[in-house]
Amino acid sequence: MRTAVYPGSFDPITNGHLDIIRRGTRLFDRVIVAILENEEKAPLFPLDERIEMIREVTSDLPSVEIQSFSGLLVNFVRKVDAAAVVRGIRAVSDFEYEFQMALMNRELAPDAETIFMMPAVEYSYVSSRLIKEVFRLGGEIDRLVPPLVLQRLADRFPRNG
Ligand code: PNS
Repeated sequence: MRTAVYPGSFDPITNGHLDIIRRGTRLFDRVIVAILENEEKAPLFPLDERIEMIREVTSDLPSVEIQSFSGLLVNFVRKVDAAAVVRGIRAVSDFEYEFQMALMNRELAPDAETIFMMPAVEYSYVSSRLIKEVFRLGGEIDRLVPPLVLQRLADRFPRNG
């Protein structure tokens, strides 16, 4: 049984994240989406809502589990006995930060591999941060997030008319 951990803030989950989750399910028997509990980041969506949204939009993927974690990622990886950490790389600009994290995690836990995956090219510029900003300012992001997330954003930032 090969388990991967796909960690992140997921505030909120985007179609780019979902694309990586789907790709991960083709390589691993179990993919645990691990949501960082970090109130310092002042998330838009509380943890339980992020969990609920991810659960809903991955309900067609039986090998996906959703869990939250705090503290070091490598401790969580050990706890769930995962073979790998999966991270999405969208562009070269992601690489430096991801490379540092992967090597620091390797320093802390030499047997936890990090696997980088590229999302479909149509999501290569999508981030949760930009999704929130563009939606709040009235831009169309319908193609970039699941309908449920769009609805939850609309609840947070009501639009007139
Ligand atoms: O979606 P994000 O915010 O880019 O995800 C970042 C995340 C959660 C993967 C990273 O911040 C993390 O692993 N945090 C847990 C604390 C930790 O292990 N820090 C050392 C990483 S080298």
